[in-house]
Amino acid sequence: MNLNNKTVLITGANRGIGKATVDALLDAGVAKIYAGARRLSSLPDFGDDRVIPIEIDITDPETVTNAAAVASDVDLLINNAGTLAMGGVLDSSVESIQADMNTNYFGTLDVIRRFVPVLETKPDAAIVNVVTIAAFVNFPGLGGYSASKAALFSLSQGIRIELAPRGISVHTVNPGPIDTDMARDLDMEKTSAEETARNIVAGLENDEAEIFPDPASQQMFGVWQGNYRDLEAAVYEMHHAN
Ligand SMILES: NC(=O)c1ccc[n+]([C@@H]2O[C@H](COP(=O)([O-])OP(=O)(O)OC[C@H]3O[C@@H](n4cnc5c(N)ncnc54)[C@H](OP(=O)(O)O)[C@@H]3O)[C@@H](O)[C@H]2O)c1
Repeated sequence: MNLNNKTVLITGANRGIGKATVDALLDAGVAKIYAGARRLSSLPDFGDDRVIPIEIDITDPETVTNAAAVASDVDLLINNAGTLAMGGVLDSSVESIQADMNTNYFGTLDVIRRFVPVLETKPDAAIVNVVTIAAFVNFPGLGGYSASKAALFSLSQGIRIELAPRGISVHTVNPGPIDTDMARDLDMEKTSAEETARNIVAGLENDEAEIFPDPASQQMFGVWQGNYRDLEAAVYEMHHAN
């Protein structure tokens, strides 16, 4: 996708990967970015009048509907907002597993459903879903999160087929550990949000359907491509190391 002069909406733009992606998109020459946040007061000053703050809680249908009415000129929708409840599916509370599913799967789906009518009026439109490498293999310590993102990955595959004739391309971003609040408790080497954002933008400019924006996700995806059971075996070793 040629990002020059495009209008973008990104959810969860107030911190982490979302915030860094706003900066990287401004550098790439977009015309306008609707920076979505649950609380407008949490948005930083991006120092650029191409950024339009917009209230959007992806689990609140009213704010999603309002956002689609206001941002009716969007060419590129980036579904970045997400939550992670640490814990395995056998021991975590059912509520925490449902919460990740509600945000990462159902919330993202609601945003997509409301914005498709906007996007299909545009000649060169795209949806980007920020998934995770944990959609390719379930990390038991992040069991419910991994499952919610696997559901989002599956949804992305389905709508890619459905929306192609309507002129909307669908991309997934599948990071490994990135140095944001979400990964604070993960004791792993992490890539910065800024490098991740630059690679997301480069992947989009290169029309990559699946974007792996950091060395860890690229390495894990390489193993998965060889034989997906080898990635599961690596996670088994990691999980039972101690
Ligand atoms: N960090 C990683 O290692 C990693 C790896 C793979 C994938 N990801 C994915 O990358 C995306 C961004 O995560 P991050 O690492 O930047 O984490 P983060 O710093 O925790 O940011 C999460 C963002 O999502 C927003 N959000 C959460 N629930 C929302 C809702 N219901 N409606 C609207 N916004 C909501 C948060 O807003 P508030 O400030 O209001 O909470 C925040 O802006 C997520 O989808 C995550 O799953 C992250």
